[in-house]
Amino acid sequence: MAPILDPHTLEFVSRNPTQTHRLGVRLGALLPGGAVVCLEGPLGAGKTRFAQGIGRGWGAEQTLISPTFVLVREYDRAEDDVRLYHVDLYRISGAEEAFGLGLDDFLGDERAVCLIEWAERARSLIPPEHLWVRLAFADGDPLRRIINFTAQGERHAALLRRFRREAFGV
Ligand SMILES: Nc1ncnc2c1ncn2[C@@H]1O[C@H](COP(=O)(O)OP(=O)(O)O)[C@@H](O)[C@H]1O
Ligand SMILES: [Mg+2]
Repeated sequence: MAPILDPHTLEFVSRNPTQTHRLGVRLGALLPGGAVVCLEGPLGAGKTRFAQGIGRGWGAEQTLISPTFVLVREYDRAEDDVRLYHVDLYRISGAEEAFGLGLDDFLGDERAVCLIEWAERARSLIPPEHLWVRLAFADGDPLRRIINFTAQGERHAALLRRFRREAFGV
């Protein structure tokens, strides 16, 4: 199910972790250098699971593991010199501390793809053009997640349109 709310928004209900991962694979395969993907949602919502799918689809040479303790992990892929940065801001107190991590060195850089868990903790650092993904628990079913995508800026909107077409055929 993928109701289209408006051209810049997409909402999907995932029934289990495998489905969330698979959706990430689809998105990861489409991510161009410069893409910024923000992942918002409570602990256990599936941000890391989704990011792991993205890493797989993008072609990361290693399986993504949660950067909760190191805050940033970097991944390469064989086909080019774009690098994937997986960031987790759960442990930071705010934008100032996040700034200290040097995120601005690669956020939005054409040779970087950025996945940022808990992006809402450093909103002022997030480039204006991004794909915001919100994961929420659904009532009544412990395996269900509502996943909402909102694109800001034309490049990310085009990315979201392509993702919708390829993942949902609409
Ligand atoms: N539909 C679903 N999508 C993603 N994860 C799910 C789903 N249903 C259950 N889970 C479970 O929820 C947990 C999500 O963990 P994780 O991805 O680390 O969350 P977060 O990074 O948001 O804290 C995993 O244990 C996963 O198996
Ligand atoms: Mg996580």
